[in-house]
Amino acid sequence: MPRIPQAFIDELLARADIVDLVGSRVTLKKQGREYSACCPFHAEKTPSFFVSPQKQFYHCFGCGAHGTAISFLMEYDNLDFIEAVEELARRAGMEVPRENGPGHQDTQKLQRLIAAQEAAANHFSENLRRHPEAINYLRQRGLSGEIARDYRLGFATDARDHLIRALSGSFDEQELLNAGLTSRGDSGPPHDRFRGRIMFPIRDNRGRVVGFGARLLGSGKPKYLNTPETPVFHKGQILYGLYEARKASPRLEELLVVEGYMDVIALAQFGLRNAVATLGTSTTRDHLERLFRVVQRLVFCFDGDRAGHEAGWRALEQALPLMRDGRQIRFLFLQEGEDPDTMVRREGPERLHECIRQSRPLSDVLMEGLRDRHDISSREGRAALGAEASRLIRDMPEGLLRAQIINELAQLAGVTAEQFEHGMGQRETDSREEPARTPQPPRPAPIARRQRLEITPVRLALSVLLDQPSLARELGDTTWLGKLNTPGVQTLAQVLETLGQHPHLTTAGILERWRDSETGRHLLKLAQWRPPPSEEDSVPQLLQDALKRLRQQYLQQRTEDLLARASRAALTDDEKAELKTLLASKG
Ligand code: UTP
Ligand code: MN
Repeated sequence: MPRIPQAFIDELLARADIVDLVGSRVTLKKQGREYSACCPFHAEKTPSFFVSPQKQFYHCFGCGAHGTAISFLMEYDNLDFIEAVEELARRAGMEVPRENGPGHQDTQKLQRLIAAQEAAANHFSENLRRHPEAINYLRQRGLSGEIARDYRLGFATDARDHLIRALSGSFDEQELLNAGLTSRGDSGPPHDRFRGRIMFPIRDNRGRVVGFGARLLGSGKPKYLNTPETPVFHKGQILYGLYEARKASPRLEELLVVEGYMDVIALAQFGLRNAVATLGTSTTRDHLERLFRVVQRLVFCFDGDRAGHEAGWRALEQALPLMRDGRQIRFLFLQEGEDPDTMVRREGPERLHECIRQSRPLSDVLMEGLRDRHDISSREGRAALGAEASRLIRDMPEGLLRAQIINELAQLAGVTAEQFEHGMGQRETDSREEPARTPQPPRPAPIARRQRLEITPVRLALSVLLDQPSLARELGDTTWLGKLNTPGVQTLAQVLETLGQHPHLTTAGILERWRDSETGRHLLKLAQWRPPPSEEDSVPQLLQDALKRLRQQYLQQRTEDLLARASRAALTDDEKAELKTLLASKG
């Protein structure tokens, strides 16, 4: 992946106004120094979503969503990082430069790859119109021309090089091979990969065709064929039908996750335009994260047979670490041998709606699955259940859902909730990075409920700096921080160093430097801090105080260190002088 230079991202964030950006998608209201709105990432009636023009940062006190303009585009438009940067650059009228030499060529190659897919999709849909046998097949499966058009369905004829002949004027042999549109047999020139098949173009978040699913018209093997992995087509990430579902309804609330292309299409035919399918793989965490960026509610449909239940359990395992409060997953197990396509056709959409309403919440499926897998009539069985449950629950985000599940599991295992949690071992949290040591300084405004952290001088200093990065310029020498031994201080030292080198960096610019790291997540939480209205003027003082306390800690540590060393060996003259000053200043 060609890297985008940091300096460009700094400049982009400084130029692209987050208020403009968010305002182009959500109605904002000015409120003091910030703008507010009903959160676009969860359902609510009163606004708890705030955008700060000064920090170039948004945050929601309700659901905890937060981030920079880049994060907003990633979440709201469901883009990946590079796409979000490109979109932001386009809005700001800037060109994205690439580091590492051939970056520009890479971009061009990707564009050619996608152009080839688009050209192929056009060729296939053109074919469909000319081939009654393909049209008949789709009719026979109950599909209308409207659905065929919305999903850009097409047809690949039997000929060995029909597509090659159609595209050879625009793309060379190697390009078609790279695009996965042709393949090379043992001998002879390449031939069309897809022949005698109904073609399902697969689109990315922006609606560009990046690959195909293809079903044989008749019987035979393999029934379905997919585009192989290419630089723009990753099976473990893409969801068939997601682009179409978002296009059909800008305010989606729920997505149905089904197993096949034809299920997505058949449901759309019956008015359920919110179905998506993985491309014949099991559900990955990546899939789930993409889905949760779009909606808060997912319904998984599985076959009611053993394989279906196993696939359901695997999806559940992937989902647990993502189940923060507000998100919901339900499971619908159909009758054995039935898929959503056959079901909706036989019993009609009303019946399917009914089944969706009655589908089972993830927590039910979890509890029942655990009970089925263990003999709860014996202590040993209950302990084994507890052990498996701990493994599953450990990485669940803190929240009411997790707490309820733990209570129930503890009851099942015949212990208290505390004992159960204790047995589970520690979760990864930030509080481990920096245990609370110091008494509370003046109370800052609330940090989003779930994410409240103990206020230590390090965190306070970071919060203030993230609120007003320009204050770093008034601090003088802070290199001693690097020698202080207290949790989290290295991050503070790094942020100050960064601000020393880039004095005009925005909060968003700081945050983007630590994107996708543990430290970055920590900083994102601290960036939600706001000074209480009554103390806005004394913010610089808060920073000074925090640093003063850290300085005291440092001097204390240095004194102890020198004293300890003096007891073992002679100090140098400089050290002696330093110790003298240190002891005198303590007075
Ligand atoms: P199914 O075998 O359940 O097919 O495969 P289906 O969706 O019901 O298709 P119809 O109704 O017979 O047309 C489910 C999914 O598994 C993948 C495809 O993504 C398919 O949609 N699959 C299946 C393959 O990739 N290759 C195959 O040979 C079969
Ligand atoms: Mn089917």
